[in-house]
Amino acid sequence: MGVIRKSWRWFESRTGIARFIGPVARHRVPKTGKMGWFFVFGSATLVAFLMQGLTGISLATTYVNSTADAYPSLQYITDQAPLGSLVRGMHNYGATAMTVLVGVHMVRVFLMGSYKFPREVNWLSGVILLVLTLGMGFTGQLLRWDQNAIWSVVVGAEQAGRTPFIGDWLGHFILAGDTLSGETLSRFFSLHVFLLPGLIFVVVSFHLYLVLRNGISTVPESGQPVDPKTYHTWYRNLLKHRGEPFWPDAAYRDIIFGVLVIIAIIALALVLGPPELGRPPDPTIIKADPKPDWYFLWYFSILAMVPASSESFIILLFPFIIGLVLILLPFIANKGERTPLRRPWAVAIVLVAVVAIGVLIVVGQEEPWVPQFDATPLPQTVAGPNPSPSIQAGITLFNQKGCLYCHKIDGNGGIRGPDLSEVRSHLTIEQIKVRVLTGALNMPAYGTNLSAQELNELLAFLETRVGNKTPRGSQ
Ligand code: HEC
Repeated sequence: MGVIRKSWRWFESRTGIARFIGPVARHRVPKTGKMGWFFVFGSATLVAFLMQGLTGISLATTYVNSTADAYPSLQYITDQAPLGSLVRGMHNYGATAMTVLVGVHMVRVFLMGSYKFPREVNWLSGVILLVLTLGMGFTGQLLRWDQNAIWSVVVGAEQAGRTPFIGDWLGHFILAGDTLSGETLSRFFSLHVFLLPGLIFVVVSFHLYLVLRNGISTVPESGQPVDPKTYHTWYRNLLKHRGEPFWPDAAYRDIIFGVLVIIAIIALALVLGPPELGRPPDPTIIKADPKPDWYFLWYFSILAMVPASSESFIILLFPFIIGLVLILLPFIANKGERTPLRRPWAVAIVLVAVVAIGVLIVVGQEEPWVPQFDATPLPQTVAGPNPSPSIQAGITLFNQKGCLYCHKIDGNGGIRGPDLSEVRSHLTIEQIKVRVLTGALNMPAYGTNLSAQELNELLAFLETRVGNKTPRGSQ
């Protein structure tokens, strides 16, 4: 015992670490009470980041950074390496947790007006951390080196290539050359394990320094607007009369929530396992339908849905506007009321953004814009027992001519076009004929692709698709 105490005294006298950390841990923060639970997301993000560091380093001990071996090495990690599947799962759900927590933390800071004077730079450094976190997601995805991964990056590079002036250079920089190759993988690997985490580390340190220097914000109250002239005096007074030491009065919440985050990540990894590896990469398969990880899926959905002609515009304009708004925010609105109760616009913006992103992610999962090439062909029984030969031929044509890829009948088929199960309930056979011959915005015209007989057979089949309602114009 004596030896340990002596060693500690020796260490402390040479480093002063306890004298340094003590006051930092016990520095006074405003009392937050139950509302304090809203203030745990920043530290939880840090916890998730540290977990990513640990699991990432573990993965890097076995992952092979080369085009030939990346995919097999991940297969090895997933199927054979001790704890490999768990660690890969934790790294995956850790990434999700970190992204979600960054988002929740930002929303909290925005809604409670915590970014206002004097914490503008806290916000700006947070915006940098958001970009870096997304960069980690983007670069990490490629390291899987499966079909999805490489195509998502090709699409990303192609989008970056449209930036005015620096587009060529940027596309080149992302791919580390003109096309996807081993150099691309090396580049993404070094970005993902050296540069971006290093930058995150530096910016997080700065962010934390600012949190200490400016203090955490108070729980916002109505009728207590931020006035830069009086804020500092007011805040200092508040700490004196209604403050509490960070450790342990406030820190215990961060610890409880941080532990819950770790448990959740481990539980998800155990229950759901790591994400399945897609097919091995094969750049010659062009009918691949790349789908990025969920944190980019909403953006991908927007791009897939806008008309091709304005795509370029949206690819660039959209991130530019979001970035600009995030950067300008603390400059244009750093004073005044902080409580969301008095800032209906702030609440509305958050609601619209969250709902829009949520819907776009769900839509992106379903990919309604992609014809479903693997739909099971309609059975001959779809038109009821004993269909006439021409109806039978119509069913076969419906399968063969690709109608099925875009149209559902009785729950079977793609969803790019409308469900045709009861098409005769609202269209006359003449209207259907015109549609098939001339096509539409997202439907090919079949005028030259069907013989007169084939058209009649197809129509004979569709004629049977009546629901309970009376067809319009054919009483
Ligand atoms: C690439 C996808 C695609 C294919 C293939 C396709 N369609 Fe369509 N179809 C659509 C879309 C999208 C619409 C909606 C067009 C609109 O209203 O702008 C549509 C509309 C229709 C409509 C009108 C439905 C309504 O409720 O208004 C009919 C009928 C139709 N298609 C029949 C066919 C038939 C028959 C075939 C095969 C010969 C076929 N389609 C092939 C995408 C497709």
